[in-house]
Amino acid sequence: MTSVRTPGWADVTAAAQLLDGIAEVTPLAHSRWLSEVAGTEVLLKCENLQRTGSFKLRGAYTRIARLTADERANGVVAASAGNHAQGVALAARQLDTRATIFMPEGAALPKVQATQGYGADIELVGVDVSESIAAAVEFAERTGAVLIHPFDHPDVIAGQGTVGAEILTQLPDVRTVLVPIGGGGLTAGVALLREVRPDVRVVGVQAAAVDAYPPSLAAGHPVRVDLGPTMADGIAVAEPGTVPFGIIHELVDEVVTVGEDAMSQALIGLLERAKLLVEPSGAAGVAALLDRPGAFEGPIVPVLSGGNIDALVLLEVIRHGLKAAGRFLTIRVHLTDRPGELMRLLTDLSSMQVNILNVLHDRASTALGVGEVEVALQVATRGPDHAEHVLRRLDQLGHAPRLSS
Ligand SMILES: Cc1ncc(COP(=O)(O)O)c(C=O)c1O
Repeated sequence: MTSVRTPGWADVTAAAQLLDGIAEVTPLAHSRWLSEVAGTEVLLKCENLQRTGSFKLRGAYTRIARLTADERANGVVAASAGNHAQGVALAARQLDTRATIFMPEGAALPKVQATQGYGADIELVGVDVSESIAAAVEFAERTGAVLIHPFDHPDVIAGQGTVGAEILTQLPDVRTVLVPIGGGGLTAGVALLREVRPDVRVVGVQAAAVDAYPPSLAAGHPVRVDLGPTMADGIAVAEPGTVPFGIIHELVDEVVTVGEDAMSQALIGLLERAKLLVEPSGAAGVAALLDRPGAFEGPIVPVLSGGNIDALVLLEVIRHGLKAAGRFLTIRVHLTDRPGELMRLLTDLSSMQVNILNVLHDRASTALGVGEVEVALQVATRGPDHAEHVLRRLDQLGHAPRLSS
């Protein structure tokens, strides 16, 4: 949905009053690790610790609270695979409104259960969110329920903007805010702070695999891009929303993109160094900082926009990040099929202090010569320098290692 009304800073401060006692004022946590990387103060805005695990409650509550009693009597409907679903479900419950949430059939069970746990009716429809959205629109037309759009509405933007208002209160001398951006509701809301603090730089961060904002800003209007594969499902939105785009075009200094390696490494860094569990979309701001350590004026505040991640996805992302950081190697070595050869390889590896995670010993492949075996090893190293040393040393010892993906 679109609206001609553009929200401003006054709408954000009004939303902040509305959300008092409803949404948490989330912590702004100093990060020594990132401050060292960036060479300036870095503080993390922890919306991963918000109720429902993301900032989405702010916009959903603001939007539903502003419906008339008649509108609320018909209930609300939304479509989402994750964070928006939980935000709408909890906001509706707090406002005594019935919520129906359309989720794709393959939505992660923990997210379905969490949304159900907030009292929403769940409809599992479609193979992806766009099919769930179509079903939600049809439901709204049929029943009179109000469709709660995830980003393209002034009240949603004003609610998300309270993240920016809190940052200004918690850190008045902030200079740069890094915000993960999908449809643009959160970034537009945060960017409204520039009405009162034009000296603060607001930078949007999008996944390189779904980077609709840079071409849209260049064209001067929302442009649709293909949905490439990305672990950052929360910010994988093919086309900017009309209302957020207008604000972002006017107030946001820059939208940068980050790759999958950077997001997975940011997620691991936040776990290991800051003790914070963040989902890939929520780590995009930190990924931008790791990619461009000297590019932003401090104090810098990356918004950790969400922390909802499936344990299985977390496993995959950690594996990807460790590989990208050179801490996780898969090596193939051909050995002569003789007693003691495998032992010699493992002894050599242990002398290099690597941790062997997995060994696959294959003597049946037709690709092997007679009397030859292939050993595929997964090993953990201490980092890129150590990984390079291991490969060089194996080569010197005559093992001729080959890296595989
Ligand atoms: C964790 C997370 N970060 C960022 C976003 C992007 O928000 P917006 O679509 O308002 O740009 C989302 C949206 O779902 C999200 O779930």
